[in-house]
Amino acid sequence: MALVRIRGGNQGTWTGRDIALWDTHDIIDLLQEQNGVRYGTWDSKRLPQELRGKATLTDEQKSVILDVYSREIDEAKKEGGYVAADVVALAPDNPKLDEICAKFDKEHTHDEDEVRFVVSGHGTFTVRGLKDEAIDITMGPGDYISVPRDRRHWFTLLADKTIVAVRVFQDTKGWTPHYAGTGTGPTEISPAELESAFGKEVVQPVSQKKGG
Ligand SMILES: [Fe+2]
Repeated sequence: MALVRIRGGNQGTWTGRDIALWDTHDIIDLLQEQNGVRYGTWDSKRLPQELRGKATLTDEQKSVILDVYSREIDEAKKEGGYVAADVVALAPDNPKLDEICAKFDKEHTHDEDEVRFVVSGHGTFTVRGLKDEAIDITMGPGDYISVPRDRRHWFTLLADKTIVAVRVFQDTKGWTPHYAGTGTGPTEISPAELESAFGKEVVQPVSQKKGG
């Protein structure tokens, strides 16, 4: 289940007067009407137990994930005219994690839709709305999103610094970021709200976790 928060202002500073949405149907309606962004949920319980929360994956395990969600992937391909799918995994043990994240945490567009289904971990897509508001869509396992091409957005990890996602696409070259706008940085959602939506791991920095 995602948590969506709409922030006003160019930098999207949370004012406490804006709105937060938790209900799936409200989220679908809002994103479709205001933004042309598609949101949905896939059944995260279908993921084999041993792969849940696991962010360091073999090619074989990535294939298992693609097999488990083959029906949803085919539907997404049909709906958006996409031709391929793969699995991307980011975890704190990736020596290039900061470098990779720095590429996508500033406001940008792509030449094709950005389609992601979160298998494990968490992340926030902040999408620029029609009135220049910042719409934070914080996602966890089971959440699916499609951000249309040329739509300004940026992406930040949460404190768990982990995300495993299925990507559905036409051409990986389409993900070259074209920087536009001034938006950057993580969501302003409070730790308490994040914890109640997604659990403790999203608010506890990885370095402070017991046992690494
Ligand atoms: Fe992007």
